[in-house]
Amino acid sequence: MTSQGVLKILGLSGSLRRASFNTGLLRAAGEVCGEQTVLTLFDVRDIPLYDEDIRARGMPEVVEALRTAIRSHDGILIATPEYNRSTTGVLKNVIDWASRPPDQPFDGARIALMSASNGGAGGLLAQYHIRQSLAVLNAVVMSGLEIAVSGARDKFDEDGHLIHDPTREFLRVQMQHFVAFMAERRRA
Ligand code: FNR
Repeated sequence: MTSQGVLKILGLSGSLRRASFNTGLLRAAGEVCGEQTVLTLFDVRDIPLYDEDIRARGMPEVVEALRTAIRSHDGILIATPEYNRSTTGVLKNVIDWASRPPDQPFDGARIALMSASNGGAGGLLAQYHIRQSLAVLNAVVMSGLEIAVSGARDKFDEDGHLIHDPTREFLRVQMQHFVAFMAERRRA
């Protein structure tokens, strides 16, 4: 925990959609994760498509802000839609930008994954593709925690707010596990 005793979670959504289920799931996680925890969403909308020529001229300001945010939080909560049985280009692009040396910030970062989709598997396959990328970056991705919200259109309202109480309760319990995981693995 930080010196104030508050755990800071950075939320990253793989969807740019206004009423995104996944962004809504992150907001709901922030609401249920407890008083000793603060969740802040990072808006990835302005991150350009990865281009090595841009990087050669220097990291864009928004990418530096993202990398600093990843380093300065106790944990990262990533919510991804499933697009064609994988994560979204938006989120992969975010990971690719953040991952470039030097001092790539995922090294040792504690991460939990979530997904929401209308499908029956709730976007789980997208989560497994993200795990593959984060493994090579030496992120510490929480295992045994599968937050995959299926049938999302019935669980979120038209503005993307979670309205399904059993899912909210499930999320509350899973967030308790993530908070304990962050506290244990806190970087020195
Ligand atoms: C999808 N969707 C989808 N859903 C799913 O469960 N498995 C899949 O493989 C796909 N593939 C897919 C591809 C593309 C290109 C799109 C645009 C959509 C549906 C997707 O999960 C749904 O649109 C979610 O609502 C997206 O999440 P947000 O934007 O609500 O967070």
